[in-house]
Amino acid sequence: MVSRYRPVTKTITHYAANACLLPICQLHGAAITTVEGIGSTKTRVHPVQERIAKAHGSQCGFCTPGMVMSMYALLRNTPQPSMDDIAEALAGNLCRCTGYRPIIDGCRTFCQVQSSSIQHEAAITISSISSTDYCWNSLFDKDQFQPLDPTQELIFPPELILTSQTPRPEPLTFQGERMTWVSPGSMDQLVQLRSRHPGAPLVMGNTNIGPDIKFKGIIHPLIISPTRVTELFETTQTPEGVWVGAGSSLSEVRTLLENLVPQYPPEKTELFRALIKQLGNLGSQQIRNVASLGGNIVSAYPNSDLNPVLAAGRCKLSVVSSGGKREVPLNQDFFVNFGKTILKPHEIVVSVFIPFTRKGEFVGAFRQAPRKESSFATVTTGMRVFFSEGSRVVQDISIYYGGMGPTTVSAVKTCAAIVTRQWDDETLGRAYEVLLEELVLPPSAPGGKVEFRRSLTLSLLFKFNLEVLHKLRHMKKKIIISQTPLPQSVSQEQNSQDPVGRPIMHRSALSQATGEAVYCDDLPRTDGELFLALVTSSRAHAKIIQLDVSEALKVPGVVDVITAKDIPGRKVRTMCGYDEELLAGSEVSCIGQMVCGVVADTRAHAKRGAAAVKISYEDLPEPIFTIEEAIEKSSFFEPRRRIERGNVTEAFKSVDQIYEGEHRMGGQEHFYMETQSMLVVPVGEEREFNIYVSTQWPAATQEAVAQTLGIPSNRVTCHVKRMGGAFGGKVTKTSILASVTSVAVTNRPVRCILERGEDMLITGGRHPVVGKYKVGFMNDGRIIAADIQFYTNAGNTIDESVLVIEKILLHMDNAYNIPHLRGSGAACRTNLPSNTAFRGFGVPQSLMFVENMITDVSMVLGLPADKIREINMYRGPSVTHYKYQFNPENLLRCWDQCKAKSTFSSRRTAVDQFNQQNQWKKRGMSIIPIKYGIAFGEGFLNQAAALVHIYKDGSVLVTHGGTEMGQGIHTKVQQVASRELHIPTSKVYISETGTNTVPNTCPSAASFGTDANGMAVKNACQTLYQRLEPIRKKNPKGLWESWVTAAFFEKISLSATGFHRGPDLYMDWEAMEGQPYAYFTYGACFSEVELDCLSGDYRTLRTDIVVDIGRSVNPSVDIGQVEGAFMQGLGLYTLEELKFSPSGLLYTRGPSQYKIPAVCDVPLSFNVYLLPDSYNPHAIYSSKGIGEPVVFLGSSVFYAIKDAVAAARSQSGLAGPFPLDSPATADKACLASASHFTQKVRVGGSVGRWAGLWVGL
Ligand SMILES: Cc1cc2nc3c(=O)[nH]c(=O)nc-3n(C[C@H](O)[C@H](O)[C@H](O)COP(=O)(O)OP(=O)(O)OC[C@H]3O[C@@H](n4cnc5c(N)ncnc54)[C@H](O)[C@@H]3O)c2cc1C
Ligand code: FES
Repeated sequence: MVSRYRPVTKTITHYAANACLLPICQLHGAAITTVEGIGSTKTRVHPVQERIAKAHGSQCGFCTPGMVMSMYALLRNTPQPSMDDIAEALAGNLCRCTGYRPIIDGCRTFCQVQSSSIQHEAAITISSISSTDYCWNSLFDKDQFQPLDPTQELIFPPELILTSQTPRPEPLTFQGERMTWVSPGSMDQLVQLRSRHPGAPLVMGNTNIGPDIKFKGIIHPLIISPTRVTELFETTQTPEGVWVGAGSSLSEVRTLLENLVPQYPPEKTELFRALIKQLGNLGSQQIRNVASLGGNIVSAYPNSDLNPVLAAGRCKLSVVSSGGKREVPLNQDFFVNFGKTILKPHEIVVSVFIPFTRKGEFVGAFRQAPRKESSFATVTTGMRVFFSEGSRVVQDISIYYGGMGPTTVSAVKTCAAIVTRQWDDETLGRAYEVLLEELVLPPSAPGGKVEFRRSLTLSLLFKFNLEVLHKLRHMKKKIIISQTPLPQSVSQEQNSQDPVGRPIMHRSALSQATGEAVYCDDLPRTDGELFLALVTSSRAHAKIIQLDVSEALKVPGVVDVITAKDIPGRKVRTMCGYDEELLAGSEVSCIGQMVCGVVADTRAHAKRGAAAVKISYEDLPEPIFTIEEAIEKSSFFEPRRRIERGNVTEAFKSVDQIYEGEHRMGGQEHFYMETQSMLVVPVGEEREFNIYVSTQWPAATQEAVAQTLGIPSNRVTCHVKRMGGAFGGKVTKTSILASVTSVAVTNRPVRCILERGEDMLITGGRHPVVGKYKVGFMNDGRIIAADIQFYTNAGNTIDESVLVIEKILLHMDNAYNIPHLRGSGAACRTNLPSNTAFRGFGVPQSLMFVENMITDVSMVLGLPADKIREINMYRGPSVTHYKYQFNPENLLRCWDQCKAKSTFSSRRTAVDQFNQQNQWKKRGMSIIPIKYGIAFGEGFLNQAAALVHIYKDGSVLVTHGGTEMGQGIHTKVQQVASRELHIPTSKVYISETGTNTVPNTCPSAASFGTDANGMAVKNACQTLYQRLEPIRKKNPKGLWESWVTAAFFEKISLSATGFHRGPDLYMDWEAMEGQPYAYFTYGACFSEVELDCLSGDYRTLRTDIVVDIGRSVNPSVDIGQVEGAFMQGLGLYTLEELKFSPSGLLYTRGPSQYKIPAVCDVPLSFNVYLLPDSYNPHAIYSSKGIGEPVVFLGSSVFYAIKDAVAAARSQSGLAGPFPLDSPATADKACLASASHFTQKVRVGGSVGRWAGLWVGL
């Protein structure tokens, strides 16, 4: 949080800001408060930290300090915020683990009015458990929270008030290694500086200049920071409107306009209100708090949200330079090209004039963005129309669009077609035709989505028309949260000390909320430490002709460049018989493949060194990017897999109908908040190394490093304290990165932390899949035969791709008993970065095809999809297509309860009614089941071990093979140890996962971590407890500590290992049968959405999830997993889109381009129910694994969107199956809705191929 004293108003302002965009020099005179400053576990935890932690809002904890500070800054300004305030404050913070609900839940305890909100339609309902024999009524007890006392907050440093009050007219100068920063003290100085250095940028909020410096490496030798020039912040009201200082932040502009609106009649403030609306959706609050009005205008982004509205509203600028002052109208002549305006380089925008509107004048502002909040617009617009008094004849009109070319564009011809005419359907009909001709985008226009963008220009004009005609007022969105009490979670007979089954807070939550939790990159720098920056291939398929590192070695601080030749041991790692080079030797096979690494004394020097490495290539012919190209060229990783039950070919002969379809599903980036991170420290003797690393599989990292260095594994110790998220992305990829880092180590430690962009470029993600299916069914809905072919895009190396294919085939039946079922799967070898494990490991892809197939069958037959699902579900004693016997009773119970909880039938009626009454908005709903196999099909991976020490003071140190990535394994294991040793959890500590304490561990994956490691810990604890038995018998009333001490004196070992063999699972692909899973986790999910068919925007109105996870060891942790996985699935199926260039470069390499779900995407009513009375003999304390299964249930939102689209299509007379690829982003949903406007748009050319490549298929 940044706090500043404003001498003019004598007030102190507080605002949250993004640290990565704040230049340190800009902070001169400001007070900075960080998460460590507001509270600590050693002294007093701040109420915000406490409530987020205790409400279970922290899983991996990497996002938690950001959440805490956004909320803290809000409370400093508004101690009793509304839910809207909270939603807005958190809109710019991303969390990949929690699904946001518990974070909002903790924050909402600061709202004064809570229960009244239930009457609003928009409500997030807290997860609820229902059962008959449990006795908890909440996941946390808010009565235990400390009150918020604003008087206890840190005060603004008085010395900063004093220095701010004392004017310092002379320029402030900061001199860096390569940059000079000058902050002039007056307008004169600013004008002089600007005329002497017209090329130097004026840095205000740094939100345009900053990313260029950070991500594009642009160096500005001089930066001018005019934040002390008071004229830039002045506001003056005139009878015609208001002059707003160009230096004002966008938040300040919004507040100013909001304050002015009530002071004037509504007709005068049409433009003000349109700007307020646009400002509410621009970026995030953190961005708006620093980004300036002048900066936004001058940056001239093609999709600036303000410029179209300011231009349509006839605003003008007051500009000053050494040549004097002038006024410049903001109109179509102002924007010259991408990022260019007619302003001269030495000119400064002092203020912006925002005029009042007149009676009969209407201004509209609309935008459509990939995500509702914190996302640049795809198309954005400002429109103004002025009618002659008392008539509908248009006297004047202006229409501006952003996102339709390199600049903000004016639809001049369209305006000409409207002006002087009556505002009616005929005029607008003609206007749409002109608009289509006027704003043309070539098929390969930057940004893609050409058809969608063109159709948006029409539909946004139509929206304006509706607004004008019906004087529609924008309804403010609300996220309001209500709480359903949680009935019961443990048996009443259970000992009150026994923590198993209770909603225990994540054991590190408070450390995470106070910023004390240590992640890999938090480890302090050790003496002489070096940093490794990676150099990656810029070609998709090429020979390396020359690797010239000479310039890199000249960069100050660079000590070495490592290449494949420097690897002392194995230069490759082998998986499934395929070798993968750690560093490319003579050839590269994708953009982003690691070629060499630059080692330097600092991160900055290493990065500069990496930028100086020159690689020359000779392109090799025909790189393969898409699945289609791979199929055409038979480019596959072997083995391919096939499975069949029954006789599919024969069965097709006896069915009533056959339908053939195809579905395409894009990949997904892990987007763990903590990027790949490692620190390799040489011990200094006998070639021994300590590796501090963020990995799900320490043993694999240890082995990989040992092989790379050519040393035995006993010289390498991997330490994993915690990960800031992993989701499967830190299983195999980390071991390669750690191996490369270890090569850079001579006698000094080396750290390697990937930047977000590098991480996204190098490490791959979820496999995209193209699948074709043929389904044979009877007219009553029974599916008799199905044949599905799956092709994944594996990328350039095999990694775990064949295993992913196997899991795809093993899950292709989902919940359905299809008597004749055939599947085949192939992992396509392409020249894109290699894909890897991702939560669900192929299941979220596999099930999309069977559910899509079922949806198509329902559309062919004209029967409800839920009925087709029910008709075909497993019932009674059942056998899967790989001959695995199971009882689907709990699957059916989840399904029935989900239908009941969601009031499925009455909602269906309500949705159908809504659709009849609304032309442009449609609602849709779906209910989806899941049957998910738990554990590793490779039996040996199901083993686990633990080591438990009891110290003489009675404290217990537990180590096990599982790693903590936010999923709460350490918390659950602590509960296990507490139950088995009959001691409070406070006596049990888990420090880290280390290969020196528990060797040969298996990866924490397959939703099996707690099952396996919990059992191993249980085993060790039972051994210890039994050893203490003679002591306990001698002194039954003694305390734990006394027993431990007595045991020590009686020479009883207080240390034990534990082991869990795990189930002996297998799959015989020749015989096409096996026992690849220990058991199934079941669930069902209902979702309902409302789709705006004109823009494709949708909102999830409600989601109800019922999951069978046996008897939960920790319901708060498990509900957290359910909600987080659901939101990750929602992102996968509706939002997250990977885009590649035609040459195979990943474009989406950061949060600006790649949108994961944010607070605005949480269903308005979100209910999670744990199936009661479920017991599981195959896992610890009758629980079930839950980390992965629910990802797929996010697809219920996809199918609800599809249902809404079907309603829109049927209005246009279109019936039957239609394709909708995943993710169902706004553009796809809008185009599929086939509205009048989308049908007008025609595009030819190369779009088809591009579209495939853009989602990495
Ligand atoms: C994460 C993120 C999300 C964003 N989302 C959106 C969005 O949804 N919609 C949208 O419209 N924008 C969005 N933006 C863009 C943001 O609004 C602009 O970057 C911002 O308004 C620029 O203002 P600034 O003060 O930060 O500019 P700076 O980076 O400080 O400067 C930008 C440029 O403007 C020039 N300049 C600044 N002030 C003046 C002046 N008074 N006179 C002359 N030249 C001047 C500078 O010389 C420089 O070239 C986003 C930006 C980020 C980083
Ligand atoms: S807890 Fe939010 S990213 Fe992990």
